[in-house]
Amino acid sequence: MIGIIAAMEPELAEIRAHMTGVSLSRVSGFDIFRGRIGETPVAAAVCGIGKVAAALCAEAMILSCGVTHVVNTGVAGALDARLHVLDIVVAEQVLQHDFDLSPIGFVPGHIPACDGIRIPCHRGLSDHIAKTAAELLCVSVHRGDIASGDQFIHTEEQKARITADFSPLCCEMEGGAIGQVCAMNGLPFTVIRAISDGADDGAPMSFEAFTEAAAHNSATALIAALQALPAEVLL
Ligand code: ADE
Repeated sequence: MIGIIAAMEPELAEIRAHMTGVSLSRVSGFDIFRGRIGETPVAAAVCGIGKVAAALCAEAMILSCGVTHVVNTGVAGALDARLHVLDIVVAEQVLQHDFDLSPIGFVPGHIPACDGIRIPCHRGLSDHIAKTAAELLCVSVHRGDIASGDQFIHTEEQKARITADFSPLCCEMEGGAIGQVCAMNGLPFTVIRAISDGADDGAPMSFEAFTEAAAHNSATALIAALQALPAEVLL
């Protein structure tokens, strides 16, 4: 069973609409919908915004549904100048840009529980989702690192700091936490995001204007990837 987690309802709505045989359970305050997309068994939930909500939801889903893989879908702010609004990013690794133990001797972003800064995503699942997105959507599909933190990034200073420290393609607020929970449970995971804004001073307005369309792109690619999911992709 594939676990699907989105921070906000508009990011999950289309995925839920494509599920068949749906049943609902409520766990740790989350509505978890179980069903199928195509032949693929899935569990899907809206976790709410931010790393704590995302981590709690991922753990609740892992413990209550027995998911074997987890995918985080939604929107993100672009940090790399090559990215444009509505483009897709499929993560190679995730990290937490606001995790900072540097005063006690760790490099910024180092998470002792993960033994490093970057948490690797599952290669087969990530490649399959990226390939599906590239075949289906008329936008660019990028592969690289995604940075998470409990901040909506909207200034050049924030962008410059995160880029200098970690060189990620984009930023959001959940993927790194879901990655940490999955890694600590020994479960493979990945993150697909579509760009809603440039993480700059226009980001709040751009986020408002483009979240629906960006969420649609991310969900569309993920739905198609799950509708045709070769078994070997999950190995
Ligand atoms: N999700 C979408 N845009 C974002 C931004 N600019 N900062 C953090 N998370 C986001």
